[in-house]
Amino acid sequence: MDFVNVADLGHQGLIDVLELAKQVKTDRAEVAGSRPGLRVGLFFEKPSTRTRVSCEVAAADLGMVPLVLKQDEVGLGKRESVEDVGRVLDRYLDVLAFRVFDHQNLVRMAAITDAPVINLLSDLEHPCQALADLQTVAEHKPLQGATVAFVGDGNNVCNSLMIAGVMMGTNIRVASPAGNEPSDAMLAVARGGATGGAEITVTNDPAEAVAGADVIYTDVWASMGQEAEAAERRQRFQTFQVNAALFEQAANDAIFMHCLPAHRGDEVTDDVADHARSRIFDQAENRMHAFKALLLYLTQG
Ligand code: CP
Ligand code: NVA
Repeated sequence: MDFVNVADLGHQGLIDVLELAKQVKTDRAEVAGSRPGLRVGLFFEKPSTRTRVSCEVAAADLGMVPLVLKQDEVGLGKRESVEDVGRVLDRYLDVLAFRVFDHQNLVRMAAITDAPVINLLSDLEHPCQALADLQTVAEHKPLQGATVAFVGDGNNVCNSLMIAGVMMGTNIRVASPAGNEPSDAMLAVARGGATGGAEITVTNDPAEAVAGADVIYTDVWASMGQEAEAAERRQRFQTFQVNAALFEQAANDAIFMHCLPAHRGDEVTDDVADHARSRIFDQAENRMHAFKALLLYLTQG
């Protein structure tokens, strides 16, 4: 089984991985060394801090052997075709995890390899992030019936959070500038997988999205690969900044979340990022627990 799109796990699979993530966080020793010798390739076509380190640590904790590969040495699709890289790595490794620009390269890889393929972020989705995000939300409120407001770009992080969120019965409100909303295709996937009456609303008004919400979530206005648009996006997204005035419009006990890295002063102000109810570093920690749970799930029996 692959984890290219967050929906690949299915409803029960998502429940199981989130439960496992909670368990491995509570008792790190219980699963230590439980997958001895399995080899995990971690390929990066873009920079990373959290994903690279949390995945290496998670794999090592399980007794696995993590191998980090970078695009400047592999030349995915340049030095060699995507399929040939996949066929070769499949002969050495038991799990193949990739951070890529083009989501289709993951789809092509998954189609020809026996080893599970994991998406470590693409232009379309960031499913491992969504696992950690839901683990973090669940530490605050039961997922069923909670409301998460995502303010900003309808991007990879937003897509995976939205799809996984409604799969778990969490209501998702997205506030984006006109033209930066999640695509109709992603909205259709999300709505098709919703359970427990969870709803998705999309608006161009941040105040409407955050009113009474349990979680306020934002991400950078220009993702990796969109650097050339950064100045123009900074103008367009200005009124979507998560600042104290916006945060105050959420529920009294609302938490703030961000996948990080943050561009402080742009999409979030310091007073919100460092607020007593900010959970951004719990989220970063949960990347490690969630990835460990995913590895256990994908390599069982
Ligand atoms: N949130 C996240 O994926 O961070 P990195 O880009 O540092 O891995
Ligand atoms: N949307 C961001 C997330 C980084 C973890 C990006 O793709 O750059």
